[in-house]
Amino acid sequence: MKARILDNLTQTSSPISGERLSDALGVSRVAIWKHIRQLQDLGYSIEATAKGYRLLNSPDTPFPWVFGERAAHVHYYPEVASTMDTAMTLARGGCPEFTVVAADRQTKGRGRLQRVWQSAPGGLYFTMVVRPKINLSASPLINLAAAVDLADTVHALYGIPAQLKWPNDLLVQERKLAGILSQMAAEPDRIEFVNVGIGINVHNDTRNVVPPAVSVSEIAGAGVSRARILKSFWERFERRMAAGDLHNVVAQWKQRGLTLGRQVRVQTLTETWEGLAIDLDETGGLVLQFPNGQRKTIVYGDCFHDRV
Ligand code: BTN
Repeated sequence: MKARILDNLTQTSSPISGERLSDALGVSRVAIWKHIRQLQDLGYSIEATAKGYRLLNSPDTPFPWVFGERAAHVHYYPEVASTMDTAMTLARGGCPEFTVVAADRQTKGRGRLQRVWQSAPGGLYFTMVVRPKINLSASPLINLAAAVDLADTVHALYGIPAQLKWPNDLLVQERKLAGILSQMAAEPDRIEFVNVGIGINVHNDTRNVVPPAVSVSEIAGAGVSRARILKSFWERFERRMAAGDLHNVVAQWKQRGLTLGRQVRVQTLTETWEGLAIDLDETGGLVLQFPNGQRKTIVYGDCFHDRV
């Protein structure tokens, strides 16, 4: 109902009477008034005068109804511990593919290698559940694909030339714009689900974040929208996954990648490796070459370039 009320209000800049809304939507005027009050409480600026209701401003919040036909897939919370945990419960309970858990704040946001992910209001924090029909060994490609699609999203929407640091950080001029963390459940012969968690700095203040970070609004200015970023990423990523389009992803990643050709330090949960990043193998593993010419492929870890 809220989506339908908002739909009506956005179609005109003149006030719409409660009576007209009630006729159009088939509910009582009191019901309309209650929904309007709830929308106001959620941050929608709706003017209510004798002439009717007029929408002045909408908050940039990923409420389910913002996503149209995908609304039923969206679980939005003002605050959660981590969207990864909520998505894990939903995925284990058999939720449909492309279920999204989004939150305004996370009290226990986490990054790769058990790091804390600062999740102040204004950022976009979400986890998307996918159920890909691919071999287990190809599962890292899903994160690379998410990174490529997210970079393409911010470029298409705001002209931001984000580059990728292995395995799937988005950087702009060596400052972190977004990070991706995933969790998977699998049986020996099939993937049950992969939960792709994305944190992107949008309106949040990144000045005191370490390592150096940057936000979409710092680069693109006013008019940036978290909901629009999520919607646009979702369309791209869902299209790719539905088409099973992972065969090009390593090449696409390399086109946007920053890591290859650089001297890097790669940290895994137990070890640290230093060498020249020379390639990505076919499942996205990073191939390092050491000064003695030997090579090693690392499948999971975090990578530090000379300056980041
Ligand atoms: C990283 O760069 O280390 C990955 C960061 C991933 C952060 C996102 S925010 C949404 C989701 N929930 C979490 O707790 N983490 C991921």
